[in-house]
Amino acid sequence: MFIEDTTKFIEEKTNGYKPEIGIILGSGLGELADEYCDIAVSYSEIPHFINSTVRGHKGRLVFAEIEGKKVVMMQGRNHFYEGHSMQEITYPVKVMKKLGVKTLILTNAAGAVNETYKPSDLMLIKDHINCMGSNPLIGANDESMGERFPDMSEVYKKDLRDIAKKSAEKLAIDLKEGVYLANTGPSYETPAEIRMARLVGADAVGMSTVPEAIVANYCGLRVLGISCISNAASSENGDALSHAEVIDITNRAKAKFKSLIKEIITSC
Ligand code: HPA
Repeated sequence: MFIEDTTKFIEEKTNGYKPEIGIILGSGLGELADEYCDIAVSYSEIPHFINSTVRGHKGRLVFAEIEGKKVVMMQGRNHFYEGHSMQEITYPVKVMKKLGVKTLILTNAAGAVNETYKPSDLMLIKDHINCMGSNPLIGANDESMGERFPDMSEVYKKDLRDIAKKSAEKLAIDLKEGVYLANTGPSYETPAEIRMARLVGADAVGMSTVPEAIVANYCGLRVLGISCISNAASSENGDALSHAEVIDITNRAKAKFKSLIKEIITSC
């Protein structure tokens, strides 16, 4: 079995480290794993892992104790737009489950759809809309992981969102809460597509997170999602959008982001 090869390798590499919290760090948000790093394992070394290719992503699994909790962080994620399958990009979530993770914190950089959001705002994901045209659970179902038709009525757990809100309040961080819509990318949205996203009830738009959230929910992980708003998604004002800008804004938000994550970890 694939997954046993992977977990056995990781357990050997980490002397049986038993993380209880998993964090997937999005574009420009990987610094937490530079600050806290007990053991790092490169994706390229791990059997059946694929290597991250996007700028702003490092491509390693980082094990560390943060605020007294054992955590495993993905410093860099793989995306559907890189040409990997939905099953491949969500494989690490299943591996985390097998390693003993109970809570998964998903993070990303996202464009604002909600007109009240500003670049560098943080948004708690309340729910999502999958516009990727596929689903990572397509294919034969492994009943030992989860059921064929998983319920999706509360993917982003209310109790975790409450913890995140209390943490933000304590740190005086203005935390938005909204719906994340996932497109495949890699092209950014047109102004018309952003208007459509607004009409269907989205607050932010991005190219990740939803596949991982679907798999995490399926295999019984408690999920929390946080988006760092890196830009106003629509270029209706005529300003072109670049990946460099996305990284630049997330860089500016990362101190706030890191302190929020640390505070959340203490309570979950
Ligand atoms: N659209 C999609 N994905 C993104 C964006 C965006 O505007 N910003 C960061 N990731």
